[in-house]
Amino acid sequence: MEKHTNPWWREEVGYILYPESFKDGNNDGIGDLPGLISKLDYLKNLGVGMVWICPIFSSPMEDNGYDVSDYYAINPRFGTMEDLKTLLEEAHKRGIKIILDFVLNHTSKEHPWFQKALKEKDSEERKYYLIRKGKWIDGKLYPPSNWGSFFTPSCWERIGDSDEYYFHSFGTSMPDVDWTNPNLRKKYVEIADFYISLGVDGFRLDAVAHLAKDMSFEDSSLPDEDGDGFVLDPSKFSNRPELLSYLKEFREEAIRGRNVCLIGEVGGSIQPSEGVTFANRHHGPLDLLFNFDTVWNNGNFGSIGKKDEEIVTNVMQLKHNFTRWYDACHKECDMPLYWCNHDHPRVLGQYGSREYRKESAKALCLTLLFLYGTPFFYQGEELAMDNLVEGSIADFAQDVGTKDSILAYRKAGYTDEEILSFLRRSARINARSIFSWENAPYGGFSSVAPILPQGKDYLEGYDAHTEELDPYSVLNFYKMAIQIRKQKYYNDLVLDSQLEWVDWNHQDVIAYLHRGYQTIMVVTNMRPYQVYFTFNFQIADILLHNYDGVLLNNHVLTLRPFESFLFVVK
Ligand code: GLC
Ligand code: CA
Repeated sequence: MEKHTNPWWREEVGYILYPESFKDGNNDGIGDLPGLISKLDYLKNLGVGMVWICPIFSSPMEDNGYDVSDYYAINPRFGTMEDLKTLLEEAHKRGIKIILDFVLNHTSKEHPWFQKALKEKDSEERKYYLIRKGKWIDGKLYPPSNWGSFFTPSCWERIGDSDEYYFHSFGTSMPDVDWTNPNLRKKYVEIADFYISLGVDGFRLDAVAHLAKDMSFEDSSLPDEDGDGFVLDPSKFSNRPELLSYLKEFREEAIRGRNVCLIGEVGGSIQPSEGVTFANRHHGPLDLLFNFDTVWNNGNFGSIGKKDEEIVTNVMQLKHNFTRWYDACHKECDMPLYWCNHDHPRVLGQYGSREYRKESAKALCLTLLFLYGTPFFYQGEELAMDNLVEGSIADFAQDVGTKDSILAYRKAGYTDEEILSFLRRSARINARSIFSWENAPYGGFSSVAPILPQGKDYLEGYDAHTEELDPYSVLNFYKMAIQIRKQKYYNDLVLDSQLEWVDWNHQDVIAYLHRGYQTIMVVTNMRPYQVYFTFNFQIADILLHNYDGVLLNNHVLTLRPFESFLFVVK
């Protein structure tokens, strides 16, 4: 396998873009490609050099484009194939690479392959999916196994009134495809090839961890904790050994040595040592690997019934998770860094603070940016956009990934008030809220009401236009920070020198350094209150700081709420 020795993404800062809520070009309330094209200068000025765009292919949008019904057509709500070509051209003119989100674990139920598979039992397409007979027990029909899915109790959906079921690891409208079938695998190679020929710079391979399944489909022996008869057992369909050979074949046949970046979403159940095998710099089939280990280190995930005050960042766990991936990866592979994507609540509400909104947003930017890896920011983070703090049940129920859980929480006896406070801080639609362009109707996103929920950011001074004009804004801090990180000296230092943690055991502070001709050091107070930090260095320079003045006395730094520094030290 031929891999590039100094790949371009090592010098880039990435941006994760959710097209439906970014910018509406034709004023129908839905973000689209022409809207995005009109804002490429904004992205260029921010300093990002690669943009991962969430799915834009034809889709009934049951799971917002992650349910593809035609891989060769652009969803009309986003535009046309011509618009994609224009986007590639205009982005490339500005030095921005485009990464498409590519879903190859499942299709939409409406994909012609699946429709044919249902209609014609002898068709080739029938073999693209995982269709199995249910089990008759005492005259009653049960699904082929007790496996649970990510979005619904069972991962099997009965086909009409037959005794057959199809497999879906996510929603019922998203049947999984069968990667043991070489003909199916070839189809995905052809699709990737088509888009690479069009000029796409890479793919984010959605849910790629799940391509290989335990094909025996034998029952899981994990305990059925909620008593519904199904268990979500990731070992049955996540990061299984066969996955490596599928991905190797995919890389060899689809990429063929071209300078294209393959980013895999490998989820929460992978060990760093396994990750290294997938993303190894010389022989791994993937280039960058998104794990979930640093995104919920505050107990927010599944925290229904808890009070907001109980959600507290576990700084030690966060450091531990960064470092275990760093230790495994830095010599062997590149690594993405991120706080948030379209599947998580906004990082301001996770690890930051509404009360110290500017301070915490800046601190989170700085802290991530100088760790080892390729940083990715999620749209709106650079403006300190917040969760849907006034979102309604109807807002949250728009998402297929949340809809069923609302019903389950009601059934379990939670009040709507409890459910709402949980969803407002944890649901993924928080991050999909409408981008805040200016203090104007609908935040300047569109001239009509957007179909996705919109927060209050643009009414609170957190919008691109207002922030552009304010030298102390979060947006301008991001620009400065990205500019520093992208300078060759600092980028090389961050990627090539050893990352050293400072005062590792500090429960409130993240501090690390990189030693070189110039030694740089990050110190961040992760708390909404003042803390102390022993500081045995000499400050040679302060490259970035989110407060005025330095409170340093007798080798003790007093750190104000979310105070964060990028020092040059001696
Ligand atoms: C990935 C996507 C998520 C989607 C799921 C199913 O996790 O990021 O948004 O719902 O896959 O495609
Ligand atoms: Ca539109």
